[in-house]
Amino acid sequence: MSKTLAELRSRRWFSESGMRGFGHRQRIQQMGVRRQDVMDRPVIGIINTWSDLSPCHAHLRERAEAVKRGVLLAGGLPMELPAMSLGEVIVKPTTMLYRNLLAMEVEELLRSHPVDGVVLLAGCDKTTPGTVMGAISMGVPTLFCPAGPMLNDRLVQGGVTRQVGAGTHTRVFWDEYQAGKIDSDQWKALETRMTRSPGTCNTMGTASTMTAIVEALGLALPGSSSIPAMDSAHPRMATDCGERIVAMVWDDLTPQRLLTRESFVNAAVVQMALGGSTNAVVHLIAMARRAGVALVLDDLDQVARRVPVLANLFPSGDRLMEDFYYAGGLPALMNRIGAQLSLGELTVTGRSLGENIAASVVQDDEVIRPLARPVSSSAALVVLRGNLAPEGAVMKGSAADARFFKHRGRALVFDSPPEMHAACADMDLDVDEDTVLVLRNAGPVGAPGMPEWGNLPIPKKLLARGVRDMVRLSDARMSGTHYGSCILHASPEAAVGGTLALVRNGDEIAIDVAARSITLCVPDDELALRRAAWQPPPRPVTRGYTRLYQEHVTQAHEGCDFDFLEGSATSPEPVIY
Ligand code: FES
Repeated sequence: MSKTLAELRSRRWFSESGMRGFGHRQRIQQMGVRRQDVMDRPVIGIINTWSDLSPCHAHLRERAEAVKRGVLLAGGLPMELPAMSLGEVIVKPTTMLYRNLLAMEVEELLRSHPVDGVVLLAGCDKTTPGTVMGAISMGVPTLFCPAGPMLNDRLVQGGVTRQVGAGTHTRVFWDEYQAGKIDSDQWKALETRMTRSPGTCNTMGTASTMTAIVEALGLALPGSSSIPAMDSAHPRMATDCGERIVAMVWDDLTPQRLLTRESFVNAAVVQMALGGSTNAVVHLIAMARRAGVALVLDDLDQVARRVPVLANLFPSGDRLMEDFYYAGGLPALMNRIGAQLSLGELTVTGRSLGENIAASVVQDDEVIRPLARPVSSSAALVVLRGNLAPEGAVMKGSAADARFFKHRGRALVFDSPPEMHAACADMDLDVDEDTVLVLRNAGPVGAPGMPEWGNLPIPKKLLARGVRDMVRLSDARMSGTHYGSCILHASPEAAVGGTLALVRNGDEIAIDVAARSITLCVPDDELALRRAAWQPPPRPVTRGYTRLYQEHVTQAHEGCDFDFLEGSATSPEPVIY
């Protein structure tokens, strides 16, 4: 399949013979661009999620220049389009609230401008699914250019060296600080040094998981998601992206030609082998639904049962993304699990996934483990169901303590984070290590935006006793960099009347990971009485985008997309006259 110049989408703007075409060409020349350049070349949009408040993307203005170099060398005309940046740690109340807004922005930016193909510059958590979802819905040739992980950090204390990972060790050191194991000067010093460079979190958190997933889907160049942001290979990769997207435009290699059920299952296989973030579950389902692929939680549970965790990366393991790159990166990992993948799927290279990874070899078996020696005997993902989560809840088995896999404990319930934090600081709190901490009203509608509140703090009283993990249950998400026996995404959520809303202090909750069950041990007739008396929590924000979000977001097991954006229909072309 190949396109002619006359068939390019941008020709509707620039080859129009009337007054409108005159205006379009005139305004491009107003910027100093030559008339022949806009007449003879495909226009490549570069969606850039850079901002001064997006630390993980601090280098993306320079990378946009590298992409432009590649586009120009290949005979295209690059045009940069800024999009919202969504720096994960900075944006409040939660970036997840804005993932769908970014997806809408990308779709509408591409729809409303004369763009023939697009390079997406993103990487920090929600920016990856947000940009990809929008580009899928637009349906123009798309190439994802990952921001790349930040540099490794390490801490040397008393002659002992510890690898330090962004996100994961914030929680580790916070617990040590709370327990009095490190002092305030050490805590302040850690704040200054832990994030050493631009780039995304260097653990297998949501950012690394999602960029790897997009590469496995066939939407990024082979190996691109593993390259550290500050490596000289990174700008070279960005130039490769610019060069390749021009060829993709001529070949009309749209996401619709690349994304299949098999490519989404490949992405799930990669997520599990990486011990990837539970957040990927929500994003993968949302992206699949945009591509018209029906992917459900049980599909992911099935993949997790058969694919071992091989990447020895925090929080499931003890290495960082830079180590993963040296060990061969994602192509080497995919080669090792090749028997689990559909290798015939077409990718942005114009070749199959199998062809892309055929020559990739693992260079370090400690970082990418052999099949016979996985990082964890537990699955990267467990989907639990029962009266507490009829539509499912998820747990990262490989980052949890296996002694809680069969557990029964009494509930201690919090309706909000302030209530939770106040209680957890109370040294007289009625809690022990078997208690199941519950946080509700933290789901897509309730919070709203399903923040990463699911790694509930261990009560200070228990930290002082040396407790570092316990069972925690919520309708929230958890940072992919975090660890612990946290049961997340309980669906339907409390704010829309899910059973989580009916739990009371002292109720017993039973978890059985082998049976994939989670049960509130309260008789059905009692639950019916509580349900009849339940009132939905008030919604403090009643205007603007937040209102739109609460009225249209779907539940966690459905991907938290907007109901009016789902489906495989691509965005209609704008009328030009
Ligand atoms: Fe940006 Fe973790 S905060 S990737």
